[in-house]
Amino acid sequence: MKAILMAGGSGTRLYPITLAVNKHLLPIYDKPMIYYSLSIPMLAGIREILVISDEESLKTYKKLFGDGSQWGLRIEYAAQDSPRGIAEGLIIGEEFLDGDSVCLVLGDNVLFGHDLPKNLKKAREKAEKGGAVVMGYMVKDPERYGVLEFDESGRPIRILEKPKNPPSNYAVIGVYFYDSEAPNIAKKIKPSWRNELEITDVNNEYLERGKLDVIKLGRGYAWLDTGTYESLLDAGMFVKAVEERMGMMISSPEEIAYRMKFINEEKLKLLGGYLNNTSYGKYLSRIYDNK
Ligand code: G1P
Repeated sequence: MKAILMAGGSGTRLYPITLAVNKHLLPIYDKPMIYYSLSIPMLAGIREILVISDEESLKTYKKLFGDGSQWGLRIEYAAQDSPRGIAEGLIIGEEFLDGDSVCLVLGDNVLFGHDLPKNLKKAREKAEKGGAVVMGYMVKDPERYGVLEFDESGRPIRILEKPKNPPSNYAVIGVYFYDSEAPNIAKKIKPSWRNELEITDVNNEYLERGKLDVIKLGRGYAWLDTGTYESLLDAGMFVKAVEERMGMMISSPEEIAYRMKFINEEKLKLLGGYLNNTSYGKYLSRIYDNK
């Protein structure tokens, strides 16, 4: 399985912060927002990742990630010249995927939870066997998201994009697992009222084919919003509180690369050394020293 990271969009709700900077590069406490999303495919054991954004922002992503080899990854880049929807990422990424299954992740997903690696692995394995897997998370404002509707037995029957009267409180989070059919399905859907190729339409197509699984993420998870000034700050405060209390980092690509055995101890030491002026770098060196 490969991964596609959607890191474009104009971020108008965060103006003027995002007038000149791509939203996904803003800090969530001690690291850029995109690190949190990048961690998701890494925790699922995926090492080939395509970053999709506008031409201008891609330059910055290239500075940040390079070719990914420092973290044992292979990172490629592709441009989406105007925001025509998340599902378009599957079409842009078709060549990169080259018939492989895919984990599609939105660049503003800050997701944290004890069982996360286990659930990501489960989702990956299911999609690799055929079909799609989405994740549902209980929120108090479901009308802002894709929302799951369930029948009496708890089976998903439909996903509604930003419904006025949400049929449940389960939002579909921005982490999707698909088999190799996804680009073909994305090519068949029509733009919505907001002139976007909706990822919800792709998910509903899998659902109609009887090939969509839903993993519900329960109370042990934090899926944080970063779309407003307040929620952006709150997300940073949440990460700060957990990291300070535990003395462990959330979503450090360097640490994950090491623990997933994408890089060895020497490499980790080197990465810690580069950032040695910061608590981030000192933390990385500590992992190495405390091995
Ligand atoms: C998108 C999807 C929506 C999903 C959400 C998760 O919304 O369309 O189904 O629930 O991401 O963040 P958008 O960010 O395009 O409003």
